[in-house]
Amino acid sequence: MKNKIVYLNGQYLPLDQAQISVMDRGFLFGDGIYEVIPCYFGNLFHFQAHLDRLIASLEGICMVNPYSAEQWLEIFKPLMDVSKNQYIYLQITRGVAPKRDHAFPENIQPTIFAMCSDILPFAGLETGVKAITLDESRWQFCNIKSINLLANILLRQQAVEQECAEAILVNRDGFVTEGAASNVFAVINGELVTPPKSNSILAGITRDVILELAEKNNIPHREDSISLDALKTATEIWVTSSTREIIPVVELDGQRVADGKVGAVWHKVNSIFQAYKQSLL
Ligand code: PDD
Repeated sequence: MKNKIVYLNGQYLPLDQAQISVMDRGFLFGDGIYEVIPCYFGNLFHFQAHLDRLIASLEGICMVNPYSAEQWLEIFKPLMDVSKNQYIYLQITRGVAPKRDHAFPENIQPTIFAMCSDILPFAGLETGVKAITLDESRWQFCNIKSINLLANILLRQQAVEQECAEAILVNRDGFVTEGAASNVFAVINGELVTPPKSNSILAGITRDVILELAEKNNIPHREDSISLDALKTATEIWVTSSTREIIPVVELDGQRVADGKVGAVWHKVNSIFQAYKQSLL
């Protein structure tokens, strides 16, 4: 990989020179949070919504937002390539402590790291992807965008090992929460449905934009719980995120979703979504 410039604690450095202490609580405990903000040709997509979620994640782990919106934008600007589709990865940990102690140390400075990476076109976008359902194995604070992604990566890895693009998680009551790194939408009886916001899911920004666009374009939609049985009868299933956008799932647990082809509602919503993105440039 090209030795790109990244931001670490007030400095811009080549990636291979950006270093943190082994006493950083992000490294020792996973004590931190992150954001992923798409950045299309230098335009940050729904920056305020990402900032609001960053602040909520920080509050969720008893930290405060260190910078204003303007200061964050100044930090990100030198990292971005305005000729590309990229995303900002921002990570904030509680910082470096003198000793390893679970309780919060006093008078500690957060570690702040940001880098910009290219968004590469996702291969399954036009053809659809396979997904599997797995038991939800995460904690009760999935609304916090925590850097503790061990459960998520183990779930995603199981999907990948079964040649699937995503694991769709089902809680012990038999209801869909979200994907290992995405939100879930289904078309059920002609209506677009996604689980409501709660501490069982991350409040995806892509999810919110899709709901807003569905509302504006008179596409029947609702936020409601989706049972595994209902998911199995869905005519369309999508997984959504900032880096992959809206991905149609055409096979679930080895069974075709409807006729196994990318559905009409996806075609409609995806073209509205792409046009909306263009309109913001
Ligand atoms: N993840 N749920 C989970 C668990 C996620 O990790 C993500 C995205 C989403 C979708 O959120 P958004 O639409 O705001 O990207 C939902 C990012 C992309 C990641 O971890 O890289």
